[in-house]
Amino acid sequence: MPVNHSSPPPGRALLLFRTAVAALALLAVLSSAPVHARPQSASPSTATAPSRDALTSFCSATTSTPLGTCSLLAQCGTSTTKPYCSTLSLLDALCNYDNPTTDVCTQYQAYCTAKPSECRADGNTAWPAWTNSTVYQNQIYRMCKVHNMEGCDKCTNPASSLSVPLAQLASCDSFAVYVAMCKAMPDMTMCNVPWKKMCQANPTATKDNFPQICPTSAFDGSAVPATSTPSTSTGSSSSTSLDEGGDLDIPPMRMYFHQDTHDLLLFRSWVTRTAGSYAAASVGVFLVTVAYYALQAVVRGVVTPRLAASLAAATPGIKREMLVAARALVATTEIAFSFLLMLVVMTFNWGWCAMVLLGAFVGNYVFNRGSGRKAALQEMMGVDGGAGSDAPLNGAGQAGQAPAKEPFAQPLCC
Ligand SMILES: *[C@@H]1O[C@H](CO)[C@@H](O)[C@H](O)[C@H]1NC(C)=O
Repeated sequence: MPVNHSSPPPGRALLLFRTAVAALALLAVLSSAPVHARPQSASPSTATAPSRDALTSFCSATTSTPLGTCSLLAQCGTSTTKPYCSTLSLLDALCNYDNPTTDVCTQYQAYCTAKPSECRADGNTAWPAWTNSTVYQNQIYRMCKVHNMEGCDKCTNPASSLSVPLAQLASCDSFAVYVAMCKAMPDMTMCNVPWKKMCQANPTATKDNFPQICPTSAFDGSAVPATSTPSTSTGSSSSTSLDEGGDLDIPPMRMYFHQDTHDLLLFRSWVTRTAGSYAAASVGVFLVTVAYYALQAVVRGVVTPRLAASLAAATPGIKREMLVAARALVATTEIAFSFLLMLVVMTFNWGWCAMVLLGAFVGNYVFNRGSGRKAALQEMMGVDGGAGSDAPLNGAGQAGQAPAKEPFAQPLCC
């Protein structure tokens, strides 16, 4: 019994001991929590963004494909003061768009978590309308599908969709190639976004600081709507938002024969979009060609002989110089006309080329009926010039003095 009586005290003591240990342990846990948390709460004050050198060495390390940001870094060079050239701005472009697996981006993301306001401060964010390398490469893909232009050879098998991951991009400097292609053909719809949008986001800064990326052609045409985004390669319907851009909707230049009612005839604003406007343009091409041969007939049949006769009679002096100048002007007009027709043929549009040829046939059939070159209009007008006669219409007295040589260039076209 005494043993039994004596047993409770040690039991109580044990209980007290256990309680004390538990309390201490709880205290230790409670006090250790802030101890463990201290390094984390201390990190905001020590978190630093990756250095310029870290970024530069990431970009110069051999990677499978040069990323857009590395291309921009090359444009910035060592400058950190140019807009969008600060290290943080470039890191935003690199890590928040392409997000390659690199310590540089891990460190940058940690820095931004710790110091969000400094991370997003003015001058520390990416170039507006900046995008990932997949988009740049996909725009190359879309452009090269429309027109095999200069630059397509620099990027073989570019990303055919926007979901191609970084690791599967073609090995080419997508941003640089895309910009170079847009500089060459600024009117292609694929250049509206992101190229023109980037340049137009802050024209004064981009024009002065990045003439290589944003030449004056990047500012041509109407402003790119702020809402436009690059459309996917497959979705033709999604590209309508870009195609609605009025005069930005310029058909691509095609240096091969093609048939399309959506084409551009000589002037930026002369874009045929409907079958009706295309037909009207075709009739115009036909009439202009016929008019060219009418002009040629008038020049050869009337103007040239008259000028020749007047020149033969003129004594050296101001009047003779005027006549020589008049003859040069007539020749220039004829050349201008023929260049115009040559440019129409160079649209490579089957319909318009055919209209030029049809116009040439009709024009020659109607206006070039003589048996000799000079006799064309004479015969038509009922003047008996005679076969091969060079007699000027108005200067019977001076006949024979008129030079028979051909002073005018042959038409360059057709
Ligand atoms: C690139 O950006 C576009 C547009 O923001 C997005 O649709 C696409 O998924 C992105 N692609 C990759 C591989 O990150």
